[in-house]
Amino acid sequence: MLLAATRRRSQVGSRAVVDFGRQRVPEGSHRAIASEPHPSSDAAGPTRPITRRNFIVWYLAGLLTATVVAIVAPILIFIYPPQGQTKKQSTTIKLDRALIAIAANEAVKFQAPPETGFIMADGGGDNAPGKVAFGGFAAKDAAGQLTVLAWTCSHLGCSVAYAADARQFQCPCHGSQFDVSGKVVHGPAVAALSHLDWKQGANSDEIIISSYQLKGIG
Ligand code: FES
Repeated sequence: MLLAATRRRSQVGSRAVVDFGRQRVPEGSHRAIASEPHPSSDAAGPTRPITRRNFIVWYLAGLLTATVVAIVAPILIFIYPPQGQTKKQSTTIKLDRALIAIAANEAVKFQAPPETGFIMADGGGDNAPGKVAFGGFAAKDAAGQLTVLAWTCSHLGCSVAYAADARQFQCPCHGSQFDVSGKVVHGPAVAALSHLDWKQGANSDEIIISSYQLKGIG
């Protein structure tokens, strides 16, 4: 009797347990399931191979992205100067002669200091009030009236030059011409050159112009 009971217990035991080393866990229990290795949790499992084709595609994509960023970023910064880095100010410009020494139909060129942009007071075409110019002219018309103009062409923004013999500002890009007061003489520009807000400085050869401080630009 005792022998039969012992044999039955031994048979049940051999069917119902799984040996995990020293610990014996009943087969089908949560503990047993949790202990079984999971295919996706294997750290040394299969990884996606880096083929030559994948490598070249990613390399070219990175190169293209870097090129686009390098071209577009400075343009965007120029058009939309970052807030906090743009401060309105007055900039004193020293001309190469006194204002009174500028003759009729003459224009004196000047340039903005580094990280400074002159503020256009008006404008049409590609120019507009509040836009930035990095240089300009102090010019007197035939009547001796002094005006200060941005050098930015109202067509597409090239810098004009003053041709003293023709008494005109001329654009090297598409040939627009402006008289000494900035009005259009010949297109394709249809709008006059922009004026700059200015006043005379402490010295006779100085003018003070409304401008922006542009950190990291110019
Ligand atoms: S940008 Fe001056 S004529 Fe076109």
